[in-house]
Amino acid sequence: MLEKVDVLISQEELTARIKELGEQISKDYEGKELTLICVLKGGVMFMVDLAKEITVPLTMDFMAVSSYGNEKVSSGIVKIVKDLDEPIEGKNLLIVEDIIDSGRTLHYLVNILKERKPESIKICTLLDKPEQRVVDVEVDYVGFTIPDKFVLGYGLDYEQFLRNIPYIGVMREE
Ligand code: IMP
Ligand code: MG
Repeated sequence: MLEKVDVLISQEELTARIKELGEQISKDYEGKELTLICVLKGGVMFMVDLAKEITVPLTMDFMAVSSYGNEKVSSGIVKIVKDLDEPIEGKNLLIVEDIIDSGRTLHYLVNILKERKPESIKICTLLDKPEQRVVDVEVDYVGFTIPDKFVLGYGLDYEQFLRNIPYIGVMREE
C-alpha cells in the first residue's frame, strides 16, 4: 500500500505548523481553561501533538461520529458512535478535527454540542478541503488548506489502515 503513497505534507511541516497553531491558541485562550474535544479516530494524532504545544490549562475528551463508513465519498449520514465522557456546560470547547471536507460532520457535531450549553465552541482542523463543502461551517483554526484529493496518514485512514504514517500522504492515481 505504502509504495503508492506520495508525501503531501511532511512530518517537519506538520510539526512546525502545529507549534504555530498551539501558540496562537494559547494566546487566544490566555487566562482561560480549555477543553479539547478530539473527533476520533482521525483527529487523535493531531490532538495529542497540538495539546503539547498549548500552554493554558486544558482537559481532553473524545467523541466519535461517522459519516463515511469505509467509502471515500461522503454518505451524508452522520451518527454518534461514541459520546463524550464529561458534561461540557460552561466550558470553552475546542473541537479538534483531522479534516473538513463536505462540512457535514462538524456542522452536525457543533449543533449537538451547542445544546449542552458550553461557554464557547471553536473549531481547529488540521486540514481543510474547501472545494467539496456542502454545509457552511465556521472554522477558527486551519493547519493547511489542501486541494480536493483523498489524503491519508497522521490519523487519517485508507480503509482503516495507514493512520500511523507520520506525514500526510496522497494516494498516487494509476
Ligand atoms: P465531512 O463530513 O465531509 O466534512 O467529512 C469529514 C470526515 O471525513 C473527516 O473527519 C474524515 O474522517 C473523513 N475524510 C474526508 N476527507 C478525507 C480524506 O481525504 N482522507 C481520509 N478521510 C477523509
Ligand atoms: Mg474525522
